[in-house]
Amino acid sequence: MSEINLGITADMHVHLRDGAMSKLITPTVRSGGISICYVMPNLVPPITTKQQVINYHKQLNDIAPETTFLMSFYLSKDLTPELISECADEGLIHGIKCYPAGVTTNSKYGVDPNDFSQFYPLFEVMEKKGIILNLHGEKPGIEEKDEINIINAESKFLPALRKLHSDFPKLKIILEHTTTSEAIELVRELNSDKKEGDDITIGATITAHHLYLIIDNWASNPINYCKPVAKFHKDKKALIDAATSGEPWFFFGSDSAPHPIHKKQVHVDVCAGVYTQCNSVAYVAEIFDKYNKIENFKKFISDNGIKFYDLNEKILAKHKGESVWLIERENKVPEVIANGDVEVVPFKAGDELKYIVEWRKN
Ligand code: NCD
Ligand code: ZN
Repeated sequence: MSEINLGITADMHVHLRDGAMSKLITPTVRSGGISICYVMPNLVPPITTKQQVINYHKQLNDIAPETTFLMSFYLSKDLTPELISECADEGLIHGIKCYPAGVTTNSKYGVDPNDFSQFYPLFEVMEKKGIILNLHGEKPGIEEKDEINIINAESKFLPALRKLHSDFPKLKIILEHTTTSEAIELVRELNSDKKEGDDITIGATITAHHLYLIIDNWASNPINYCKPVAKFHKDKKALIDAATSGEPWFFFGSDSAPHPIHKKQVHVDVCAGVYTQCNSVAYVAEIFDKYNKIENFKKFISDNGIKFYDLNEKILAKHKGESVWLIERENKVPEVIANGDVEVVPFKAGDELKYIVEWRKN
């Protein structure tokens, strides 16, 4: 193997921020090898109106017109069934991201996952219109007696996913950035009745960094700290097994989440988020190569996500004239990427990767 045509690639979970950070980061979706990305709404303030979606999409498109940006709302009391219905019909949004309050960066406007019932009228419309519910699957620890911590928060969230699926079997739900073997098992279980060709309603994204990291790697290095945190060897193994399996419910969502260097290299209140966008495809390819599963790489990085999001021909047409190629060639990760005052340290800064991407006309 020296070259593979990946066709149209998709990263179904990106944080592109705004202002100077966005100008620095947004072009790196493409330079990292991604055609289509699904954009997170956790700006300050979060994206909860139609006008915000339109403005943010224009802002990103002006920076990087060759990339397709799929937009999302932030699940909150400000959303109404009418708004969702209207934005879905106009093709403005593809999903709604649910952040449990307090679990991660900019989640203070989020919701209580112990009780989703106030959002059921929204979920009904989403189910009807094919709008995806993206779950940040961590249960917030409110009281000490809950015994919730960053290690068990994802496993403790899983009953909420089970209940949502049983109450809305046709609602498409993605458990984002899965980090535990329990989560992988549950996604498989909820899909166990599916036969080839059936519509899939439960999916899971897997990041690049969680295929590399365990708890030790972030405990000693804040650059590797993100939410949900990387867990144990058995969890990493389950994630690698799921990603490389080719199973259609597992696909790529980098959760690339840049923070300026001065908010990462501190002793207190380290910001959660690992920046991987500038080499997203290359990081993942290296893992598939290592485990001799490169034949399943295109499923994970291109086909499965596009299929789950049910992207229509109109969206794909923009990308039909070119393909992303994975090339076996040394690729050094920059020590830092910078734009004036904004500096971001990428994952595995300074390391040599085995692969690089090229864009070629078909
Ligand atoms: C994300 C961010 O920085 O916006 N951080 C992270 O650790 N993943 C938020 C999120 O997706 O949880
Ligand atoms: Zn995220």
